[in-house]
Amino acid sequence: MNIQIFSTQTGLNHAFTERMKEIASEKRTLNIALSGGSTPKSLFDYWAQLPEGEIDWKKFRFFWGDERCVPPSDHESNYKMTKEHLFDFITLPNKNIFRIQGEDDPTSEAKRYGELLNHELEITNGIPSFDILMLGMGDDGHTASIFPHQINLWDSLENCVTAIHPISGQKRVSLSGKVINAAKNVFFLVTGENKAEKVKEIFEQPDQAKKQYPAALVQPESGNLYWFLDEPAAKRLHNNPVT
Ligand code: 6PG
Repeated sequence: MNIQIFSTQTGLNHAFTERMKEIASEKRTLNIALSGGSTPKSLFDYWAQLPEGEIDWKKFRFFWGDERCVPPSDHESNYKMTKEHLFDFITLPNKNIFRIQGEDDPTSEAKRYGELLNHELEITNGIPSFDILMLGMGDDGHTASIFPHQINLWDSLENCVTAIHPISGQKRVSLSGKVINAAKNVFFLVTGENKAEKVKEIFEQPDQAKKQYPAALVQPESGNLYWFLDEPAAKRLHNNPVT
């Protein structure tokens, strides 16, 4: 696991952006799965203020790692957040946006999106493979929308699963573990002191963490797993190297 710790959110956003540009420079098109929640907002705002042409957005094809089962106009929608913090500020053909349709029946949408991934992405060992997969981590150790109380969903044979938020009961559509681990490059972007305990457990007691936390099960076949943390999220780690 490659871990980098940043003293500022801007430093984290810049470093991830530079890696993303490096990966994109080698490809005609780049298939990226975005994470949701609040952490990516800062990254999207950072991208939105970059000079025109800094990132060759027309080669990017946007997907999501998970979505809340709400309409795209709902304040909970990961798509809505991405539109308001990124898409409204960059030039991007609509055909490059592959939204999880949170307004639809979760089970049928998980099936539809899973089949869409098979058509739209490169298939590696029979599994659709993203070029870049962004992930966040909840303070309970969830990632995408696979939560500890449903850790069994990780091993689904499907590309996408339906899940339920343990507190709100909100339904979600999420990538399954096999698609997450088939990605060529997986980046965890984790910020905030409330994540520090789980970060410590995942890094220092991995075997135990794998039994409880879906985030601990992220182990891409490619070996390209990068953790980008801010200092508060990394504060419980021993001898953490601040970038
Ligand atoms: C979502 C995300 C989820 C998120 C974590 C961390 O739809 O909420 O995909 O997995 O990444 O909950 O969220 P924060 O960045 O808000 O802490």
